[in-house]
Amino acid sequence: MITMAATAKPIFSLLLLARLSATLVAILLLSWALYFTTSFLPHTLSQRDLIYSVLHPLLMVIGFILISGEAILVHRWLPGSRKRKKRVHLWLQGVAFTSAIFGIWTKFQGREGVVANFYSLHSWMGLLCVSLFGVQWLMGFLTFWHRGEARMIRIQVLPWHVFIGLYTYGLAVVTAETGLLEKLTFLQTNGVVLKHCNESLIVNGLGLGLAMLCGVVILTTVSSKQYQSIPKTKVMYSDNKYLTP
Ligand code: HEM
Repeated sequence: MITMAATAKPIFSLLLLARLSATLVAILLLSWALYFTTSFLPHTLSQRDLIYSVLHPLLMVIGFILISGEAILVHRWLPGSRKRKKRVHLWLQGVAFTSAIFGIWTKFQGREGVVANFYSLHSWMGLLCVSLFGVQWLMGFLTFWHRGEARMIRIQVLPWHVFIGLYTYGLAVVTAETGLLEKLTFLQTNGVVLKHCNESLIVNGLGLGLAMLCGVVILTTVSSKQYQSIPKTKVMYSDNKYLTP
């Protein structure tokens, strides 16, 4: 069987779709946070608490999910050496992790202690997700970045790194979905927001955008590397040998 390897286009289309979904998510979230501020008003009505309340979804979605998605995609588009890709990947994941920690910290402000906050499925999933992310980042740092590591150990750990990385990314998106659902249900139940209104549309659209982004990022990652990297001019046979015209 002969497979024509005109494959530069699929990966380009997937990356474009990922960026479009990410842009849509960012626009919807910013519109929600900037134009519907009353939905984020805390009981205290203080300006400081309002800022913390708005900062949580912004840091979690833009700082954590969008940036860690971009860090995952780095291996698919960034030109240059593996070392360079790993460095950018690690730094972006570091920024995402810092945003996540700061995002959770905003929720600890103005309440009675840390433990009192963790009552919802959303908060438990969030804690699990950010803890896994932190462990994964540390392991990635030690096994992939540390120059003294044995090559065999790195090769053995790689599939686990990819699996836990994608699992944590999916968990982050699901956690954000539960956060959106919790917030919108709370607002609708209290009559602050109508079931059919622009704000509900924006929040539901944001949830759909996140689901789409998650699918595209995972698909781009699991698409065969070999499939992506063969130049257009080569023909591939089923025994994996290439013929260049
Ligand atoms: C990756 C995304 C997210 C993660 C990891 C996450 C994590 C967390 C955690 C750990 C808490 C508990 C902190 C505390 O209550 O002291 C929390 C609370 C909260 N989050 Fe998120 N969050 C995410 C996204 C969102 C989004 C998009 C919203 C939408 C507005 C949101 C809304 C809330 C609300 C209303 C609370 C307070 C009520 C509760 O604890 O369930 N979160 N979040």
